[in-house]
Amino acid sequence: MNRLISFEGVDGCGKSTQLNLAAEWLKGRGEQVVCTFEPGDTSLGKEIRQLLLAGEFVPVPEAELLMFLADRAQHVRERILPALDSGAWVLCDRYTDSTLAYQLAARKLGEGAGDLHEMLRFAECGVTPSLTLWFDVPVAVAMGRMKKRAEAGEKATRLDDEAESFHQRVAHAFTEQFESDSGRIARINAEADIEGVFRQLEQALKRHFSLP
Ligand code: TYD
Repeated sequence: MNRLISFEGVDGCGKSTQLNLAAEWLKGRGEQVVCTFEPGDTSLGKEIRQLLLAGEFVPVPEAELLMFLADRAQHVRERILPALDSGAWVLCDRYTDSTLAYQLAARKLGEGAGDLHEMLRFAECGVTPSLTLWFDVPVAVAMGRMKKRAEAGEKATRLDDEAESFHQRVAHAFTEQFESDSGRIARINAEADIEGVFRQLEQALKRHFSLP
C-alpha cells in the first residue's frame, strides 16, 4: 500500500485547509510529509496551470482533458514518485478523481468518446492513491464559501466561474465515484466546522493505514 493520499471535492469544499492540518498531524507523529497539488506543482505544470486556468485561453474540452493529464504525468514522475520512494507521505490536492468529475462527467467527455479510463490510467504512470478523501458538501454551501473568498480578494479560476449546473455535475460525479470505489475513497462530511471535519479525517487515516 503506497502512502499517497488524494484530497478531492467540489471547489470550496475546504480540502486544502484539511490537507495542511493532516500534514501537521502526520509530522507531529514524526512522519515525513510532502504536500503537493494539481494542476501546477512542477515547472512545466506551472505553465500548464496558467494556460488552463487563468482565463486567457478557453481550451476545447478535449484539449482541457489532455492538458490536465500532461500535468499529471509530469507531476507523478517528477514529484510524487521520488517523494514516495524516499519514504514520505504524499498529500495531493486533487488527482484523477477530479479529471473524472470535471472533464469526463461535467464536460461530458465520458459520453460517446470511447473509454477514456485507459488514458487516465496512462497519465498516472502506475501511481494510484491508496486513500482518497472526498470532502462532501452541498454545492450551494461550497459556492457560498467561494463567493466569500472572492469578496476577500481571492482570484477565481476559469473553472470556479462555471455555472452552478456544472458544479452540480461535478458533485454528482464524486458521489458516483465514491459509491463505486468505497474501498479507496473515504467520505468526509465537509459541512461540519474545521475541527469536526478534521476529526473525521483523522479517523479515516487511522482506519485505513492501521495507525494507532
Ligand atoms: P485550484 O485553484 O487549485 O482549486 P481548488 O483549490 O478547488 O483545487 O484549481 C484547480 C481547478 O482545476 C479546480 O477547479 C478543479 C480543476 N481540475 C480539473 O478540472 N481537472 C483536473 O484533473 C484537476 C486536477 C483539476
